[in-house]
Amino acid sequence: MTNFFSFDNLTYYFEPGGRSIQVSGAVEPGNVLALQGPSGSGKSTILRILARLLEPAGGEVVFRGQGWLSFPPLTWRRRIHYLPQKPVMFAGTVLDNLWLPFGLAALSDMPKPGRDYLEGLVAAAGLPPSILTQDALTLSGGEMARVALVRALLVEPDVLLLDEPTAFLDEGTERLVQTLLCNWLQEKKERAAILVSHKDEDLQAFPGLRVVNITPSEREG
Ligand SMILES: Nc1ncnc2c1ncn2[C@@H]1O[C@H](COP(=O)(O)OP(=O)(O)OP(=O)(O)O)[C@@H](O)[C@H]1O
Ligand SMILES: [Mg+2]
Repeated sequence: MTNFFSFDNLTYYFEPGGRSIQVSGAVEPGNVLALQGPSGSGKSTILRILARLLEPAGGEVVFRGQGWLSFPPLTWRRRIHYLPQKPVMFAGTVLDNLWLPFGLAALSDMPKPGRDYLEGLVAAAGLPPSILTQDALTLSGGEMARVALVRALLVEPDVLLLDEPTAFLDEGTERLVQTLLCNWLQEKKERAAILVSHKDEDLQAFPGLRVVNITPSEREG
């Protein structure tokens, strides 16, 4: 047990004094942790809490032996990177969108990736090189999801929080994305992913998979 990334008793109330969740889990380097539960149970909520986009009522997250609150929020969000269920694209080309994070102060130490490298990366996600000059707002749902994933990989996070990364994809494209993620996990030590997926077959593709079930509880009275 290397205690790479773990969360303990993260508690969130959907309504004050009402329905709530309390969730614990851990993921080791190179592995994937899946969050499972019915629609509306709080899977996306947990991912948003882990990314520090939402504050829990209680609980703690530890990354490499250090409590989450000892990290500045921006540093945390770069290391522990959340990819939302609905991909977000900004006005401009796909290339503009992929380069966007490199204009941010938090990433000023990272060189902007070259176009050839990006062509290789989008190809691995099953996208043609011509997509780089396409208006990002005209992409299909599945194309947007893949561009958003490529953008997240470029930031080189330590833990990727993926909210239904293959929801918009057909089987063939889904497999490409699984391979892309598996390769990403193996490329470098000390990387892990926490993901939500409704597709069981999607999860079987990942080595060392562990599952956390999310079950909301109602408070009496
Ligand atoms: N901003 C919000 N304001 C109020 N309620 C919210 C908000 N965001 C989420 N909820 C509620 O919190 C609950 C959990 O939502 P969440 O998105 O985490 O579920 P989920 O497990 O990801 O569901 P799905 O599988 O449908 O994506 C739902 O009942 C939802 O309606
Ligand atoms: Mg969700």
